[in-house]
Amino acid sequence: MSEPTYRRVLIKLSGEALQGDQEYGISPVSLEGFAREICEIQQLGVQVAIVIGGGNIFRGVAGSTAGMDRASADYMGMLATVINGLALQDAIEQIGVQTRMQTALEIKEIAEPYIRRRAMRHLEKDRVVIFGAGTGNPYFTTDTAAALRAMECHAEVILKATNVDGVYDDDPETNPAAQRYDRLTYIDVLSKNLRVMDSTAVSLCMDNELPIIVFDLNRPGNMKRVICGQELGTWIGPE
Ligand code: GTP
Repeated sequence: MSEPTYRRVLIKLSGEALQGDQEYGISPVSLEGFAREICEIQQLGVQVAIVIGGGNIFRGVAGSTAGMDRASADYMGMLATVINGLALQDAIEQIGVQTRMQTALEIKEIAEPYIRRRAMRHLEKDRVVIFGAGTGNPYFTTDTAAALRAMECHAEVILKATNVDGVYDDDPETNPAAQRYDRLTYIDVLSKNLRVMDSTAVSLCMDNELPIIVFDLNRPGNMKRVICGQELGTWIGPE
């Protein structure tokens, strides 16, 4: 199980995954664990780009429901993704793998601005590329940023690493009878309103036939298993 099926992938890591058992912020144990998994696949020769969320620090939607202007709340969420990106960059580099971080909002003192061709060059040089600040636009989620960057960088698949082991027909936490899907089409996800990713992100993937694999990040070794073609979680693609 050491031959990768994919050569270039985009990993979408949720902010919540970084918080581990904590109620807020970054758990050093989770951070180090994810960094190790990422380095493991990079060392198999896989080119890795990462889009990270910010929900462990600030949720734009929650801010706007609390009365804040949605655009302001979303900008705060984008800054939260930059904080997570810097933490992940540090953790990966401590293991000895080179990284570059690029942000969709210019914060030149701490990261490179997003330049597509430069990001591609970094990937070709086996640097893990971390994209921060979402798409740089309010009203778009980090899932949409993941779909966009995956397409721009010609990733072969989006690996959506989450706290559940795939996509279910109901919430498995509240309904023990919920069934997990092994495979779904984009249309299934949209028509059944399965909330794997928001509809903008799923539509973007559908239009460009970019597959998405949703899998459980909390089981050590899963990232490598998925990369090496083991059927884990839920695969979403064309018919
Ligand atoms: P090559 O051109 O392939 O050698 O890539 P490189 O990323 O090593 O080249 P460069 O000399 O541009 O970058 C050297 C270091 O500076 C890297 O760690 C970059 O991430 C960083 N860097 C480059 N541009 C910026 C920027 O605009 N802002 C910040 N904060 N860092 C930058």
